[in-house]
Amino acid sequence: MEPRQSDAFVFFGATGDLAKKKIFPALHAMARRGRLRIPVIGVSRSAENVEALRALARESIEQHGGGIDPAAFDRLIGLLKYVRGDHTKSPTFHEIRKALGEANHPAYYLAIPPSMFGTVVQHLGETGCTRGARVIIEKPFGRDRESARALDEILFGVFNERSVYRIDHYLGKRPVHSLLFFRFANAFLEPFWNRHHIESVQITMAESFGVKGRGAFYEEVGAVRDVIQNHLFQVLVNIAMEPPVRTDAESIRDEKVKVLRAIAPLDCANIIRGQFRGYRDEKGVKPDSQVETYAALRLTIDSWRWQGVPFYIRAGKCLPVTCAEILVRLRQPPSIYQAKGLKPNHCRWRISPDVAIAFGVNTESGIDDDGAESVELLASRQPGVEQMDAYERLLHDAIIGDATLFARDDYVDEAWRIVDPVLKEPGAVHLYEPGTWGPTADRCIGPPGGWDNPVVTQE
Ligand code: BG6
Repeated sequence: MEPRQSDAFVFFGATGDLAKKKIFPALHAMARRGRLRIPVIGVSRSAENVEALRALARESIEQHGGGIDPAAFDRLIGLLKYVRGDHTKSPTFHEIRKALGEANHPAYYLAIPPSMFGTVVQHLGETGCTRGARVIIEKPFGRDRESARALDEILFGVFNERSVYRIDHYLGKRPVHSLLFFRFANAFLEPFWNRHHIESVQITMAESFGVKGRGAFYEEVGAVRDVIQNHLFQVLVNIAMEPPVRTDAESIRDEKVKVLRAIAPLDCANIIRGQFRGYRDEKGVKPDSQVETYAALRLTIDSWRWQGVPFYIRAGKCLPVTCAEILVRLRQPPSIYQAKGLKPNHCRWRISPDVAIAFGVNTESGIDDDGAESVELLASRQPGVEQMDAYERLLHDAIIGDATLFARDDYVDEAWRIVDPVLKEPGAVHLYEPGTWGPTADRCIGPPGGWDNPVVTQE
């Protein structure tokens, strides 16, 4: 059955940080593309009235949405309504019901702390607001397997899985989803995309900045919860999944879950955690904090295609560059030219800051006839910022009912299963200097011969 389009968009937390940085800019961009045609209802306690909310929308789009497009802004304002109220009290939900008018299939976006989800969902149910509705929630989906299951229980008290849209903004990044297109729209990759030809896979998400004043938040999460269990696992499954039988949301999501199912729970021997020197001086951080701002891990996928191929994943703050990249190293060929010091071939996908696909090959060095040179054939390269922000894509998809780019409950459960043991018993954290590639201890986790560190050239 085709999913229904939502006929109203209600967002809780209309004056919050997420609304300011992401939601208003996304709605404005949708209006500019002519893709926003349903009432938009903001819910919050703090804005005095709808005029105040409009002013906030303007400010948010000016600061975070690349500036106002007058026609698009007018369209958005024309659709914008406001319900002022406390989302812990039922009168607010009666007001929402009134504001919904004729709409029977609203999408509720809970841009509020997860601790409030239970109360809001319960009120929505009790006031008859959930019939024909869907709900959009934001990561974190719990902080471990147990709490993620508890969150699902709250949601499933009123909604079913088909009407829950879990946002992992990494999935909304075009180059992440395009990995599937590249893999399955081309025939040449498939013959070598397996354990017989691939030596190892590296996934790196490096950030040259620290916690940007979010010390208190970061203390509660750390790198594994913040970006590895969600964003980087999504990258991993796109690299590793089998071709889906169809391109509908469930066929694709089924294949993703299968990859995670084939991964054993992580143990301490396969992860190195690091913390940049100076993190403990951040506001909201404990002076003896053991939270990781860097993690490097090794895992294997016990499937017909991948058994024995190590996948290395690392993410960190205060590293030398800001860059997200995948590097797939092929096995060394049984070459007659070994003496020339050949490097293994590789495929490289860059997700950000620019988008690129490249293949590393050996050529005979032009300078020295006895030498070999490893060069990259750059298949495609697009500089700079994406045309469509991840939030614009995801909110549009949630409204039209396309769940492909959202995390399903079984996927989230499997992802927590894999990292749960190291969250429970994290082991030591190693200090590293800001501006370096993490603790030197991670040499024992990286691929043979070391990591291929991304190189970012300034445009
Ligand atoms: C967020 C994390 O989910 O993703 C941040 O909480 C991280 O710590 C961010 O910096 C990275 O996303 P992007 O899109 O800015 O690369």
